Amino acid sequence: MSPSLPLPTAAATPVLGTPHDLPKPPGLTWRVQSREPVGYDVNIVRGLLAPANPVLARACGADGQQPTRCLVVVDDKVHTLYAERIRAYLDAWRVESFWKVLPGDEAAKELDSAVEVTEAMTAMGLLRRTEKVVAVGGGVVLDVAGFAASLYRRGVPYVRVPTTLLGQIDAGIGVKTGVNHGTHKNRLGTYYAPETALIDPEFLATVDPRHIVNGTAEIIKMALVKDAALFELLETTFAGAGPQSLAAGGPAATEVISRAIAGMLDELEPNLWEQVLERSVDYGHTFSPSLELRADPPLLHGEAVAVDMAICVALAHHRGLLSADDTDRALRLMHTAGLPITHPVFTTDLLEEALRDAVKHRDGFQRVPLTDGIGRVRFVNDLTREELGRAREFVRQRAAAQGVPEDAGVLAAAS
Ligand SMILES: NC(=O)c1ccc[n+]([C@@H]2O[C@H](COP(=O)([O-])OP(=O)(O)OC[C@H]3O[C@@H](n4cnc5c(N)ncnc54)[C@H](O)[C@@H]3O)[C@@H](O)[C@H]2O)c1
Repeated sequence: MSPSLPLPTAAATPVLGTPHDLPKPPGLTWRVQSREPVGYDVNIVRGLLAPANPVLARACGADGQQPTRCLVVVDDKVHTLYAERIRAYLDAWRVESFWKVLPGDEAAKELDSAVEVTEAMTAMGLLRRTEKVVAVGGGVVLDVAGFAASLYRRGVPYVRVPTTLLGQIDAGIGVKTGVNHGTHKNRLGTYYAPETALIDPEFLATVDPRHIVNGTAEIIKMALVKDAALFELLETTFAGAGPQSLAAGGPAATEVISRAIAGMLDELEPNLWEQVLERSVDYGHTFSPSLELRADPPLLHGEAVAVDMAICVALAHHRGLLSADDTDRALRLMHTAGLPITHPVFTTDLLEEALRDAVKHRDGFQRVPLTDGIGRVRFVNDLTREELGRAREFVRQRAAAQGVPEDAGVLAAAS
């Protein structure tokens, strides 16, 4: 027997010419995965424009020693009322400011306004990472400026300074930006977090009363969907000092605002990009997007939300989810706040059409949040036209029984 040769093992002796040693051809399919951490601060800061207060300056990357620059995108009314103080503050911190003044109000929330903001960035030669866009205004200016910031060079950092009640407890603290298009609210938009949101309740002192009432709608929403204690606090605050007391400061106002912000952030944080489409913060936002821009004269965002919430209160009541007493309390709170609870544009046909649009927005299901007692929600997917009609009629009769003509809240507040 001849001595046996050691048997080659696959690892030690690749056989030349087999596919193993040939360079691999490129594949035909790749998968790229990445995560972008999002972190931003929301701070309530009184005296934001006091020259000794460093918070806004720091948000602009200023230390008072090295010169810096920023673009201030500011609401026109805020500009009239506060431009001098903002400019003096920024000068004191050696921030060279460039300004873009935008009209507030819904009519100006359009693509052209966002493009104009990007043009202002080009005109000043905004540095892409270090120089900030500082948006100062109500929800409209914040949404437009945030949208522009998300588009410009695919994203530049921005700071939000909300100056209306609705801005401070809602529009200014999430990550959504957008503009209206056609008759559709926020049809074009992005998710784009600010670096920080700085909330100074002192801005509320100059806000028109109707816009304070407007902001209360989103606070009532948070109370209805997750904070029964906030609901009770609102009942006592509105019955005693009235909704305008939220603009005057004081301990109750501070507690209301901070509870509303906490509740809102609690709901937004785990679902910033809305992967989960069952969102309790969508309460009051099922039918209202179709109503808001169609009413003539147009309703404010919070007013449309209130009319939607009133329908949802009735829907919940008819499904046995909300007692007669809590149904009364909810409708009364909206009315005491000065919000409308019905509107003539809201026919059963429009409610049905609005629900159809919401189903598209919510990827094929109704996912309508309804109160399950005050302070809790449950989602339903089987609302019928009959229920919508009955709910509408219920609210209409309640309003009439209280001697409230349709859209009286709007008229009272506007006059
Ligand atoms: N991005 C979000 O997550 C989000 C959430 C809720 C609402 N929104 C949007 O917010 C918008 C509504 O925001 P809004 O109610 O603040 O309206 P708004 O921005 O139109 O402001 C209301 C009015 O108040 C004026 N104003 C602003 N600050 C002032 C001040 N301190 N003193 C005096 N006047 C002042 C404005 O010029 C305007 O006339 C809607 O377009 C809505 O879609 C966005």
